[in-house]
Amino acid sequence: MECKSIAVVLACALFACALGDKISAGAEPTPSPTTPSAATTSTDAPTSTKTPPSTSTAEPTTLPPTTTPAPEPTTTPAPVTTPAPVTTTVAPPPSDGRGNWTVSDGNVTCIVAQMVISAKFNYALQTPNKTANKEMSVPVTAKASGICDATTQNVKLSWEKNSIDITFGKNDTTKMYYVANFKLEVFADNASFPNISSDLVNKTYTLVSSSDVFKTNFNQSYRCIREESLPLTGNMSAALILNKVQLEAFRTKSDKVFATAQDCELDTPDIVPIAVGCALAALVFVVLIAYLVGRRRSQARGYLSMNTARECS
Ligand SMILES: *[C@@H]1O[C@H](CO)[C@@H](O)[C@H](O)[C@H]1NC(C)=O
Ligand SMILES: *[C@@H]1O[C@H](CO)[C@@H](O)[C@H](O)[C@H]1NC(C)=O
Ligand SMILES: *[C@@H]1O[C@H](CO)[C@@H](O)[C@H](O)[C@H]1NC(C)=O
Ligand SMILES: *[C@@H]1O[C@H](CO)[C@@H](O)[C@H](O)[C@H]1NC(C)=O
Ligand SMILES: *[C@@H]1O[C@H](CO)[C@@H](O)[C@H](O)[C@H]1NC(C)=O
Ligand SMILES: *[C@@H]1O[C@H](CO)[C@@H](O)[C@H](O)[C@H]1NC(C)=O
Ligand SMILES: *[C@@H]1O[C@H](CO)[C@@H](O)[C@H](O)[C@H]1NC(C)=O
Ligand SMILES: *[C@@H]1O[C@H](CO)[C@@H](O)[C@H](O)[C@H]1NC(C)=O
Ligand SMILES: *[C@@H]1O[C@H](CO)[C@@H](O)[C@H](O)[C@H]1NC(C)=O
Repeated sequence: MECKSIAVVLACALFACALGDKISAGAEPTPSPTTPSAATTSTDAPTSTKTPPSTSTAEPTTLPPTTTPAPEPTTTPAPVTTPAPVTTTVAPPPSDGRGNWTVSDGNVTCIVAQMVISAKFNYALQTPNKTANKEMSVPVTAKASGICDATTQNVKLSWEKNSIDITFGKNDTTKMYYVANFKLEVFADNASFPNISSDLVNKTYTLVSSSDVFKTNFNQSYRCIREESLPLTGNMSAALILNKVQLEAFRTKSDKVFATAQDCELDTPDIVPIAVGCALAALVFVVLIAYLVGRRRSQARGYLSMNTARECS
C-alpha cells in the first residue's frame, strides 16, 4: 500500500517535471528544485534530467549552414587599401540577422522588406539513389532592385548567381495587397551543393511559391515573427523558410518606416495543452496529498479507506 502510493506520487512528480521543463523552455531556476527531491526518492531521476540536453543538441547542427554563406562577400572588401569613403547601397542589418531591403522610385519608397530568408533543398547525389539536404540563406548583403508600378510591384534580391523575386499584387475591391508569389532562381554548382549529381550540376533551377499569400490591408504592413515555411514547386525539391518578416508594398510615402503592422495569426499549439496538463498535474497532487493526509488520520483512528486510490491512474 505505502509503496504503491509512493510510486504513484513519483510518477506524477516526473510527469509534472517534464511539463515544467517544457513550459520553462530554457529557464534555469526551475530544474534545480526538482533534482534534489528526485535524488532522495528514486534512481529514475538521472535519466529524466539527462534527456533535455540531448534534445537541445539537435538544433545547433541545423544552424551552421544558414550562417556560412554570409562571410564570403564581407571578406573580399578587406584587401582594398583605400580608406572609408566606400559608400555601399546596402544598409546595415537591423542587428537581429534580418535583411533590410527597399525599392524606391523617385521620392516614393514603394516597398520595404525586412526578414530572414532561407531555402531548404533536397537534391540527388552522384551516388545512385541518394539525396542530400541543403539550406541556403539569402545574405543580408543581397542587392535589392524592383519596380514601383501601380498594379504590380516587385523586389528582387540578388546574390552570386542566385536571386529571389517577391511580386506583390493588389485588389482594389477588397482594399488589400498580397504577395503574388516568391520566385527563387538558384544556380547549383558543386561548391554550394556538395557532390550533386553530374546531370544536375552547373544549372539554374526555378522554384515558385503558391500564390496570393500574406494578404494585408492597404496602408498597413504585414508582420510575422514566427517561422513560416512555404512549399516551392519547380525543378528541384525545395521549401522557403521565412523568419521575423515585415513587409510593406504599394507605399506612397518617401520614408522607410513601416505603417501599422497587421500580424499573422499567432501560432500557439504547445502553450495551451501544456498549461492544461500542468493544471491537471497540480490537481492530481492536491488530491493525492489530501488522500495521504486523510488516510494517515483515518489509520490513526483505526479504519482504512481506499476509495480515492485510483485518482491518479
Ligand atoms: C533600412 O534601410 C533604409 C535605407 O535603405 C534605412 O533608411 C532604414 O533606416 C533601414 N531600417 C533599419 C531598421 O535599419
Ligand atoms: C515627390 O516629388 C514631387 C516632385 O519632385 C513632388 O511633387 C511630390 O510632392 C513629392 N512627394 C513626396 C511624397 O515627397
Ligand atoms: C535505384 O533505384 C531504382 C528504382 O528504385 C532501382 O531499379 C536501382 O537498382 C537502384 N540503383 C541502385 C544502385 O541501388
Ligand atoms: C478582388 O477580390 C474580390 C473578392 O474576393 C474578387 O471577386 C475579385 O476577383 C478580386 N479581384 C482581383 C483583380 O483579384
Ligand atoms: C564536389 O564537392 C565535394 C565536397 O565539397 C568534393 O568532395 C568533390 O570532390 C567535388 N567534386 C567535384 C567534381 O568537384
Ligand atoms: C563527396 O564525395 C566524396 C567521394 O565520393 C566524399 O569523400 C565526400 O565526403 C563527399 N562530400 C560530401 C559533402 O558529401
Ligand atoms: C561545372 O562548373 C565547374 C566550374 O566552372 C567546372 O569545373 C565543372 O567541370 C563543371 N561541371 C560539369 C559537369 O560541367
Ligand atoms: C528549371 O526550370 C526553369 C523554368 O522552367 C528553366 O529555365 C530551367 O532551365 C530548368 N532547369 C533545369 C536544370 O531543368
Ligand atoms: C493610404 O494612405 C494614403 C495617404 O496617407 C491615402 O491617400 C490613401 O487613400 C490611403 N489608402 C487607403 C486604401 O486607405
